[in-house]
Amino acid sequence: MSQEEASLEARLEEQAEFDPPESFVEQANVTDPGIYEEFEENWPDCWERAANLLSWDEAYDTVLEDDDAPFYEWFTGGELNASYNCLDRHVEEGAKNRAAIKWEGELGETRTYTYGELLNEVEAFAATLRELGVEEDDIVTLYMPMVPELPIAMLACARIGAPHSVVFAGFSADALATRMNSADSEYLVTCDGYYRRGDALDHLSKATEGLESVEHEVEEVVVVDRLGEALEHSLADGHHDYDELVAEHEGASVDPVSRDAEDMLFLMYTSGTTGKPKGVKHTTGGYLAYTAWTSHAVLDVKPEDTYWCSADIGWITGHSYIVYGPLALGTTTVMYEGTPDYPEKDRLWEIVETNRVDVFYTAPTAIRAFMKWGSQYPDRHDLSSLRLLGTVGEPINPRAWKWYYQHIGGEECPIVDTWWQTETGGMMITTLPGINTMKPGSAGPPLPGIDARVADVNGEEVDPGEAGYVTINNPWPGMLRTLYNNDERFISEYWEEYSDEEADEWVYFPEDGAKLDEDGYVTILGRVDDVINVSGHRLGTMEIESAVVGVEGIAEAAVVGGEHDVKGEAVYVYAIPEDGYEDQEAELEEQAEQAILDSIGPIAKPEQVLFTHELPKTRSGKIMRRLLEDIASGNELGNTSTLRNPEVVDEIAEQVESD
Ligand code: WT7
Repeated sequence: MSQEEASLEARLEEQAEFDPPESFVEQANVTDPGIYEEFEENWPDCWERAANLLSWDEAYDTVLEDDDAPFYEWFTGGELNASYNCLDRHVEEGAKNRAAIKWEGELGETRTYTYGELLNEVEAFAATLRELGVEEDDIVTLYMPMVPELPIAMLACARIGAPHSVVFAGFSADALATRMNSADSEYLVTCDGYYRRGDALDHLSKATEGLESVEHEVEEVVVVDRLGEALEHSLADGHHDYDELVAEHEGASVDPVSRDAEDMLFLMYTSGTTGKPKGVKHTTGGYLAYTAWTSHAVLDVKPEDTYWCSADIGWITGHSYIVYGPLALGTTTVMYEGTPDYPEKDRLWEIVETNRVDVFYTAPTAIRAFMKWGSQYPDRHDLSSLRLLGTVGEPINPRAWKWYYQHIGGEECPIVDTWWQTETGGMMITTLPGINTMKPGSAGPPLPGIDARVADVNGEEVDPGEAGYVTINNPWPGMLRTLYNNDERFISEYWEEYSDEEADEWVYFPEDGAKLDEDGYVTILGRVDDVINVSGHRLGTMEIESAVVGVEGIAEAAVVGGEHDVKGEAVYVYAIPEDGYEDQEAELEEQAEQAILDSIGPIAKPEQVLFTHELPKTRSGKIMRRLLEDIASGNELGNTSTLRNPEVVDEIAEQVESD
């Protein structure tokens, strides 16, 4: 580090607050601080402002219907089509030659789809899906990596009113089957493979294996050919080749189906406290309005921008902020297939430079990795096109925030630290970049119209500086409507904790801990349930545990998150071998890892698997996870006097250190 850089860093280290640069404010989409009051006074009608960003086939008659709370309805009576809103209307307005998607393949090849071209291919694939028998309300599973055919398939589904359920390509065959079974999905679109660090990865075998565990008849399977010659595969009997089908339907015209605002746009599975993933249901009107609104107000997206979110479309971030929000606003959205360190650690900055990216949205785990690699990588590139930076997925520590601000933003870009969840559909707590002062480490105030609070166990708001739980005391258009086929779990997971059912007062509980400061800024402290956050991805410890205890020879296991300097949290497995298996720990460890890969995928790969003859338990027999978390994180160990077996704690801690 040069002396100059060192002094710059020292200066930033002192600074706790940052104001958005004048040059940004001058051009920002939202600049009037009165918007907070305006939304509050005019709630819920304030949300018309979001709905007005869309084109409706039929005007809605009610903004919010709360008769059957917490089964809220938004923009009831309204009709619209998401694919029309993301494509046709921009073409009709003359933007047919504007780039809609700029795709960067890992090997360096690029593909650009203009709005006109994207609409053509979406129509061709929509016609294909129809011909294959997909009808309105049929759920189509998309098990695909970051290829343009994924957003094309999503929009084709939306066009004919068939909800999609995207399954992250990194998930295992079992995870695919679980989701297809839960959604009763009879159609699958998948891909032969993709590239990771230059290697062709086989994806189709996983998909085929998953199909074997689907309990119902799967009607049709379509396979995208990404790898060409790089992967020898022959299509299974009855499986279709995407390119052939699309070529057959070239030039097809498929009218967008008018959907009720409350009709399901998609399902997205996410991990919960139990072993069974939750099918989060999002709707056409509220979700699309909310993602368009937050893309406009928070990401400051403009049609002439080149906008890039580096998430994977297999997660909610990609749904809301690669596909639906940006395309609804008619901007150019960048998609990258591969990893940030291939062929070199400057790959992302190369993409920013060559595409002249205006707005960049990524995860703190990525920023921590960039920091570790060093600023020489971004320094190689001209990043001056950047205007705004964003983060999502986990808390960002002030040091990483400042590194991002300095080395990527050149101290000229505001940073939005956006707190939200799969269930919220879009951003909930963040600064508005053209209005608010930024405080590194704190996400910011709730967005206008969002009544997020920090409360104690009784629902009373805590004093500034004290820790409590995030609650959301008013509904919002992007909220999940229910858990698929499981209204009961919807209530018990999100509403029971803080609502007063008798009084018909409903409070949403996101299961995050937080602190509030005197200015109403929220600092998120992390999950308070048995869900851990690995590289910005939510993993249920119970899901991992049930994979581990499925291994023959493992009697009991506890899975916890331990602090990790890049991933945020990492998976730690503590297991007890069955009698007679004590001398086979190496094999058991391997089998436990394999079981996790098989049931979830490589993202859940444990940092450490430790065998012990006992787990720390309370007198009532409950595993003390807190303690195991502290051991995994190398923290000072708290009080162990309530344990039945305190001696085991030191034994495990010693093992962790020596392993
Ligand atoms: C959980 C939601 C939202 C898309 C990505 C993850 C954590 C999310 C932040 C942030 C601190 C954050 C929370 C939340 N989280 N954003 N800016 N600061 N924590 O979606 O898989 O549904 O996970 O991610 O703990 O509850 P998800």
